[in-house]
Amino acid sequence: MKMKTPLFKVLTCFIIGCLVVNINAQKVNPIVVSVDKPEAGIKPTMWGVFFEDINFAADGGIYAELVKNRSFEFYKSRTGWKVDVASKDSSHFLILNRGLLNEANPRFARVTIKEGSGKFGITNSGFRGMGIKQNIQYNFSVLASLPPESNIILRVELLTEKGEKIGETSLSPRGKDWKKYEASFVASKSDLRSSLRIWFEGTGTIDFDMVSLFPGDTWKGRPNGLRADLVQLLADLKPGFIRFPGGCIVEGYDLSTRYQWKNTIGNVENRHLIVNRWNTEFRHRPAPDYYQSFGLGFYEYFLLAEDIGAEPLPILNCGMACQFNSAELVPLDQLDPYIQDALDLIEFANGSSETKWGKIRSQMGHPAPFNMKYLGIGNEQWGPQYFERYSLFEKAVNAKYPDINLVSGTGPQPDDELFKSAVESLKTLKPQLVDEHYYRPPKWFRDNAARYDNYDRNSFKIFAGEFAAQSFYTGSPDNKNNWECALSEAAFMTGLERNADVVNMVSYAPLFAHVDAWQWTPDLIWFDNLKSYGTANYYVQKLFSTNKGTNALDILQENKPLTGQQGLYASAVIDKKSGEIILKIVNTSADVQSKSILLQTAKKINSKALITVLKNEKLSTFNSIDSPELIKPVDKEMQIKGKNIEIALDPYSLTVLRIKMN
Ligand code: AHR
Repeated sequence: MKMKTPLFKVLTCFIIGCLVVNINAQKVNPIVVSVDKPEAGIKPTMWGVFFEDINFAADGGIYAELVKNRSFEFYKSRTGWKVDVASKDSSHFLILNRGLLNEANPRFARVTIKEGSGKFGITNSGFRGMGIKQNIQYNFSVLASLPPESNIILRVELLTEKGEKIGETSLSPRGKDWKKYEASFVASKSDLRSSLRIWFEGTGTIDFDMVSLFPGDTWKGRPNGLRADLVQLLADLKPGFIRFPGGCIVEGYDLSTRYQWKNTIGNVENRHLIVNRWNTEFRHRPAPDYYQSFGLGFYEYFLLAEDIGAEPLPILNCGMACQFNSAELVPLDQLDPYIQDALDLIEFANGSSETKWGKIRSQMGHPAPFNMKYLGIGNEQWGPQYFERYSLFEKAVNAKYPDINLVSGTGPQPDDELFKSAVESLKTLKPQLVDEHYYRPPKWFRDNAARYDNYDRNSFKIFAGEFAAQSFYTGSPDNKNNWECALSEAAFMTGLERNADVVNMVSYAPLFAHVDAWQWTPDLIWFDNLKSYGTANYYVQKLFSTNKGTNALDILQENKPLTGQQGLYASAVIDKKSGEIILKIVNTSADVQSKSILLQTAKKINSKALITVLKNEKLSTFNSIDSPELIKPVDKEMQIKGKNIEIALDPYSLTVLRIKMN
């Protein structure tokens, strides 16, 4: 037998010694959770979602309409449409303008078929195609008007990308009065990029408008409703609030393209379509066919909020267009209509059916108030011009609706000179929450986990309204929702949770992106015409929002919060209703970290705990439409004995531990 050398013995002793020192260090320096000292309550609104119509989030996204440019109101009136079979003679397809007869929707289409000209067809390409599902019912509708002598029949077909017919129906509209005609059919096959063709048969003229195709399987089966898979992903987050409709979309490129909520309610055919301000914002991702039909308008946003149990948080234009674009301002003495919009919105959401705006809500199908409590004034505005305008809104809203919580902006950055001057200006104002935005590299998020630890407790409450770690520059195809970004956000979020007494609302941004039609990266949820998936960042949000608790607890090592020591970050909450302690620990290091956790003075601890781990060994990993579950939480049961817990934290992981007290 070979003798062990003295060097080998020395090394072995050294390694064993290190392990013992390490185990003792764990025991001596446990992570201590003060279970007996619940801190200020965590607001039910704490973790929410930020919806903006960017990346085809609304039209072509959550709004389930499949026909693009259904009302021919796009600047180029035939966008999305093509004539299939030009007639041998003079049959034709024209766009007419009714002018003042319908200012919100002036254009309509006219097809004329001359005797003996055979079939004439037009085809709509949808939003980068139409996602069609086998065995699902599709509901076609159109507004039409025909002179008595016309005998035109519409034959409607769904075609796959390869041209195979997978559904059909027909309609025989009659009569001069504009009427809605509807027909349904079931698709025989699934296809990612179908199109809709309408054949015109017979002779004569037909005027038509609002050509529409909706799937029957919308969220809650609502006619003209929302895409169920996308709403489900939101509902699964159990969000405390939903902010809508943005974002810069509220501001507009200029004031003419600002978001005006009054144009987004009532009958869809009377909602005034405008260009989407993101259509040509990024030169490398132009989307000239990006418009806002407002089929998803303010009424639908409120309904969505109600459906998913989230507080509605609308944001309104404050008389300023985007300062990165035209920076147009409404003169202060002409701001009244903008302020009136805010007051009217509160009446629309909360007023009784006897009030002017409450009556409209009621007629749209919701007699009960939506009970809106929050309202944002302006988005990412800055400078004295913002605060002058904000203060006029504040005065008017507080005077009429003192219970409404107002949200002010602080500009686009969380720490520059504009931000600092915003904080100064806000000292003379009284918003209930101030909205901070953080689009920074992952390291910034790790370095700022203690951002609110020493925050002045007498200052404003924080709405962390937009944030996302950027792996590369914003909007770049290389800017990925990778694991490093998500893990760094998790580290930062432990700091938000630890300071839940001042941070009352948090939302990642942007929310949605179409894989073929995005403008901005990164985004929380990606989808194509049929499928959708949550990014690693989505699962981080979900683990926080579905493990919210009611009160924050101190979680300390050597009497200090974990804000990056050995790459560790942590927060803890108690759920007083369920009697559970919930720990969130982020290990940003490449090593397994064995830790002792002491649940100080906790009694009667259930021996079975639930441990959920979100991890990946490579920081560059990201989920995608073809591999949507590379990073996904995994649950398992963990046995614990009393209040001392030994835990091994995986490298690059977010661990959520739910411990029940009997
Ligand atoms: O989330 C995308 C954009 O980022 C928002 O529209 C804007 O508020 C911010 O600049």
